Amino acid sequence: MEIKEVMDEIKKIAIIGGTGREGFGLALRWAKAGKSILIGSRSEEKAQAAAEKINTQLGQALAVGAPNALAAREGDLVLLSIPYQGHELILPAIRESVQGKIVVEVTVPLDPNDPTQVKMPEIGSVAEETQAFLGSKTPVVGAFHTISSASLKKLDQKPDGDVLVFSDHSQAKETVIQLAELIGFRALDCGPLRTGRTIERLPALLVWLNKRYQKKDISLHFTGL
Ligand SMILES: NC(=O)c1ccc[n+]([C@@H]2O[C@H](COP(=O)([O-])OP(=O)(O)OC[C@H]3O[C@@H](n4cnc5c(N)ncnc54)[C@H](OP(=O)(O)O)[C@@H]3O)[C@@H](O)[C@H]2O)c1
Repeated sequence: MEIKEVMDEIKKIAIIGGTGREGFGLALRWAKAGKSILIGSRSEEKAQAAAEKINTQLGQALAVGAPNALAAREGDLVLLSIPYQGHELILPAIRESVQGKIVVEVTVPLDPNDPTQVKMPEIGSVAEETQAFLGSKTPVVGAFHTISSASLKKLDQKPDGDVLVFSDHSQAKETVIQLAELIGFRALDCGPLRTGRTIERLPALLVWLNKRYQKKDISLHFTGL
């Protein structure tokens, strides 16, 4: 199937942890671009409140809230935006529902005691761990790790920074690149899933820089391209 056809098929984006900072920001941007959004949460009420906030802000009913497992079942593509500590609970709860769908992994394994550092999983990266857990028929794509939630929320500004996209599934990677471009980003093909070993470390540096320079939305932009 052509990339465009795949993009057209992705009408509903489910965001697991869409009540949080990063997931909510991405939901807002994609809803503004006309995609239907399923906000997933451990609490249905919290999910519905977040969806309502998006609909009120945009003046259109584009988002609905649901428990994480239901959102994963209904979504054409599923994005994971939860703290790494939540993976043990959430991944088994959505495994069956996401089979065969693109799963976008945004999770950064920040050290909870010191977010200027990471604690990488034994396998190498979170994205590789998620891929191993879900199985090879479910393409996992890493993206948005270096995009700050603060910049996503500023709807009056074009999003800043390059989205670094990596996966072992090239068509799924291209689809996610197009989804990032849909909301105004430049998105770069950063290679296979093991690139996550490098990319998932970068947000720890951004946390440091934001603290050091008292900012909230420092991001990465490559030159020379
Ligand atoms: N914030 C950023 O600027 C940014 C940028 C790039 C990447 N990231 C990464 O994206 C992910 C989400 O970041 P965030 O800042 O949006 O996080 P967050 O606001 O702290 O959490 C996101 C959502 O995850 C759910 N959650 C929290 N703890 C959980 C647990 N133990 N088990 C299951 N679900 C849990 C919560 O939803 P419910 O309570 O509704 O279930 C929460 O609203 C993280 O891995 C982060 O490192 C963040």
